[in-house]
Amino acid sequence: MEIKQYLKDQREIVEEQLKQVMPAAAGPFAEHMESMRYSLFVGGKRLRPILCLAGAEAVSPGIEPEVALPFACALECIHTYSLIHDDLPAMDDDDLRRGKPTNHTIYGEAAAILAGDGLLTYAFELLSRAGEEAALPAAARLAIIELIARGAGSTGMVGGQSLDMIYEGKQVDYETLKTIHRSKTGALITAAVLSGGMAAGASPEQEQALSSYGDNIGLAFQIVDDLLDVVSTTEELGKPAGSDEAAEKVTYPSLFGLDRSWSMAKEAVERAITALAGFDHHADPLRALATYIIERKN
Ligand code: IPE
Ligand code: IPE
Ligand code: MG
Ligand code: MG
Ligand code: MG
Repeated sequence: MEIKQYLKDQREIVEEQLKQVMPAAAGPFAEHMESMRYSLFVGGKRLRPILCLAGAEAVSPGIEPEVALPFACALECIHTYSLIHDDLPAMDDDDLRRGKPTNHTIYGEAAAILAGDGLLTYAFELLSRAGEEAALPAAARLAIIELIARGAGSTGMVGGQSLDMIYEGKQVDYETLKTIHRSKTGALITAAVLSGGMAAGASPEQEQALSSYGDNIGLAFQIVDDLLDVVSTTEELGKPAGSDEAAEKVTYPSLFGLDRSWSMAKEAVERAITALAGFDHHADPLRALATYIIERKN
């Protein structure tokens, strides 16, 4: 399949839905909402929502995008919040994101913290309504909300971000590095693909397979993010190249060098594709997305 066209089409579906569900910047909280909208609509690959839709398609071919779209939008709100906070002076202190100045450089630090808070909280408002139109049983909805909360929370993305900060400038062993990457990036990516599958009625075996796929592409995604930070340019990335070395982050290249890191990312993608063995060609988008993750330029 042609991954470029697929990504473009799916991105359009996600953009359209995000525009529909995000409140306009108007009324007494207009300034706050404007700062949320700025980071959400400034760009981004929309990978997590696309994975969510692809997970649903793999489990239930031809499923209406409407079933998984509310989950997809909530995931993008959570992801965008994580980027706003990740760029703050107290965290990675970066001034460029998605090719534009970071939220805090435009709106100030307090507003950026609140823009993140607003996006995170709004994600759960969206989740509370998700599945209404598609008549998903309440129990299924709740299970997906719990999955996403865990992926985003203290044993998932937030926990990983805390380790990422704690280990700045320190030596780490391989196990710890894997834990950081799996949690700060892999957990939300796994929640993305699995939430789509669950919304489509995945069996326990399918859930297991999607979870293993997500874990492996999540790891590969962050290894490649680390590699691109070393080998790419600020212009190509739309965020500052060399940021990790400047902050003394623990990364795959810093522990294993470039060549070994690329091999490890490729191995993780192979494991991800192997995990999908029980799915037919309707999981081809997931397979193509796995390969895209190591071939992407930003
Ligand atoms: C960047 O995520 C943060 C990481 C988890 C490495 P993306 O590379 O998906 O960022 P956008 O959404 O395309 O801007
Ligand atoms: C961040 O990892 C992961 C998040 C949860 C946001 P990085 O700090 O490496 O992400 P970038 O490189 O700034 O996008
Ligand atoms: Mg970071
Ligand atoms: Mg960062
Ligand atoms: Mg990075």
